[in-house]
Amino acid sequence: MGFLFARSSGYSFVALALLACVLLAPCQAAKAGLSIKFYAKTCPGVDTIVRSVVAQAVAKEPRMGASIIRLFFHDCFVNGCDASILLDDTLTFTGEKNAGANINSVRGYEVIDAIKSQVEAACKGVVSCADIVALASRDAVNLLGGPTWNVQLGRKDSRTASGTAANANLPGPASSGASLVAAFAGKGLSAREMTALSGAHTVGRARCLMFRGRIYGEANINATFAAALRQTCPQSGGGDGNLAPFDDQTPDAFDNAYFKNLVAQRGLLHSDQELFNGGSQDALVRKYAGNAGMFAGDFAKAMVKMGGLMPAAGTPTEVRLNCRKVN
Ligand code: HEM
Repeated sequence: MGFLFARSSGYSFVALALLACVLLAPCQAAKAGLSIKFYAKTCPGVDTIVRSVVAQAVAKEPRMGASIIRLFFHDCFVNGCDASILLDDTLTFTGEKNAGANINSVRGYEVIDAIKSQVEAACKGVVSCADIVALASRDAVNLLGGPTWNVQLGRKDSRTASGTAANANLPGPASSGASLVAAFAGKGLSAREMTALSGAHTVGRARCLMFRGRIYGEANINATFAAALRQTCPQSGGGDGNLAPFDDQTPDAFDNAYFKNLVAQRGLLHSDQELFNGGSQDALVRKYAGNAGMFAGDFAKAMVKMGGLMPAAGTPTEVRLNCRKVN
């Protein structure tokens, strides 16, 4: 920020502020009324509680860190970061948990519940479930060895959830590079931010069902990598739920190996390899593969920006007491 102002001293303050808004991710959050000090007076212990519960969960099962990171993405891409993904279905709506991209796939709901109950005991009715997911995903990245950042806070929780919106907004593993760029552009995120955020696939697991087409049908895949995956994922006769790590070198470390893998044609999903397949993101993938610090910085900024996605103005919201149901 100081750098930007010092270099641009010929412009008026307003012009500079607007320029900063375009260039700096936190501005989107600021526009949404978020602030890193939102709970400084009302729930000063929230950061410590979230970090300690996530740390316990990751110590017990490192994959849970990955699952929590994904939970944040799947929340934010469907009507904004409003904890809509956490709502159980009711008689009046079919929510997001059972949508195609989430059912039998998204995990971590119990960890969010555990955080919420400790946070409620410390400061009742103050901290939203949406903010808990944002904080928990930051901590998950960091606990797995990735960067950290200040989380913009002050989100509210939705009073409804939409399975239809989840199906429409969450990109699938068969997506082309162009459709990934378009899906993220639809959320105000650039191609560069999309590629940085995809680097989260340096941790976690995917089911055979999600990568079978790639390992039996595609040419741009490393032969040894494909042969090993075929052991886990039979071409026919079941095994849909069998898991493989996205990054078979350092499966639970949040590093830049995802990009090194793409350059080696070791992307697990079709959609992963689309980011390095002779298209618009190839040069950036090579940069991230060679520069872990550049990836870490871009990833952190893009997470803050994604975290600024808000429900449409006028949508009824609240601070839920139980993340699974409206008050
Ligand atoms: C670019 C478009 C994306 C597509 C097409 C995509 C697709 C997928 C798929 C198909 C899986 C495996 C699901 C299963 O096997 O049940 C998965 C897992 C995962 N995704 Fe993505 N994803 C994308 C972007 C992202 C982003 C932006 C993030 C986070 C910032 C993310 C984080 C994760 C993580 C961490 C996992 C592993 C979760 C676990 O092990 O529980 N993904 N993704």
